[in-house]
Amino acid sequence: MPTQLALLGGQPVRERSFTRWPIFDERDEQRVLAALRSGKWGRLDGNEVETFEQAFARMHGCRHGIAMVNGTVSLRLGLVAAGIEAGAEVIVPPYTFFSTASAVIEANMVPVFADVDLATFNLDPAAFEAAITPRTRAVIPVHFAGQPADMDAIGAIARKHKLLVIEDAAHAHGASYKNRPAGSLGDLASFSFQSSKNLTSGEGGVVTSNDERLAAECRSLHNCGRIPTGIWYEHHVISGNYRLGELQGALLNAQLERLEEQTRTRDENGQYLAARLSKLPGIHPQARPEFVTRHAYHLFMLRIDGEAFGAPRSAVVEALKAEGIPCSAGYGFSLNQQPMFQKKAFGPYLAVERDKLEYSKVHCPNSDLLCKEQALWLEQAMFLGTRADMDDIASAFEKVSENGVALTDWWRKRGAK
Ligand SMILES: Cc1ncc(COP(=O)(O)O)c(C=O)c1O
Repeated sequence: MPTQLALLGGQPVRERSFTRWPIFDERDEQRVLAALRSGKWGRLDGNEVETFEQAFARMHGCRHGIAMVNGTVSLRLGLVAAGIEAGAEVIVPPYTFFSTASAVIEANMVPVFADVDLATFNLDPAAFEAAITPRTRAVIPVHFAGQPADMDAIGAIARKHKLLVIEDAAHAHGASYKNRPAGSLGDLASFSFQSSKNLTSGEGGVVTSNDERLAAECRSLHNCGRIPTGIWYEHHVISGNYRLGELQGALLNAQLERLEEQTRTRDENGQYLAARLSKLPGIHPQARPEFVTRHAYHLFMLRIDGEAFGAPRSAVVEALKAEGIPCSAGYGFSLNQQPMFQKKAFGPYLAVERDKLEYSKVHCPNSDLLCKEQALWLEQAMFLGTRADMDDIASAFEKVSENGVALTDWWRKRGAK
């Protein structure tokens, strides 16, 4: 007899909480307090943001870093910096956060969805190539969950068609592809420092690049269209103030000192858990191609094949939570199915193109399958814990697997589909 599921009255596998996020101590307090006491709170007054930009860019293999208010703005300004014309097409995956596509619309460009690979959850290079039209100007591969996309394949296709490559590295601080850091693998990259991210200042973002011209454009765009040689009230291009403040810069400088070690810990724990869970029937942790030399594990993702596992994904999520393992099913539907796309609620953007766009006809079966039936997410902070924490997660999965029949029975009685 397997031990009874906590959901059905049994003892949970775990009653302690996992590592809490964010992590900070007196080093963060002192750095932020010093910035506060300096009275230099704006980016133009102090040097915390500038110090951070240089250190973060260097760590990510880039000569330039431009810190901004968030990772949505940094994506959008990256597109604008490239001088792409209004109405041009930008290829994005459908299995990602809203901003990957909303930033394209707010740059007055058309997002075109190309499906993800079912095993890696990342943009499928073949789907990307098939989505290219004469109007395509850029592609935004997302290093989803912190695992680099297939950048050599994507880069080769982009070069053939003369497309700009912007990495959406919002999840990928410290990740690497063939030992090259995420953030240095395209023309530009965008990271986020929003509160859930692997490096955070509550809100924030950065563009990294090795392209002098694009970096200079981004710097100007994030600073009301100013240029280094201009006088203060001299504006050369339409934009706004998207500068990050010094208190956030100070916090990021303190947090950055932990990033290397935290990234190593997450990657070790993530690989260990993936190896354990792949032994279970119907469980497929995100496939890790050889080119991934470091996974940032912003999320640990896996697919559950409900039939092979013996219980549907939604029931498994409930059972794991009851066992003391926080987890979720992630996105409920692919990005192209968001009400915003279905209603074409683009505000003042894409006024000319809107009538011709039909997102209800877009079909991304792999992304749909992940959203509707198979994906399961565990969050990054859990992977900052110990091997024993990973063993608890694995034990909970094993327990749920052994109780598939009882769980499915409970699920049916509950009237769930
Ligand atoms: C994949 C992805 N891209 C872009 C963003 C946007 O970042 P921000 O929330 O800092 O605007 C996020 C996250 O929040 C994200 O998950």
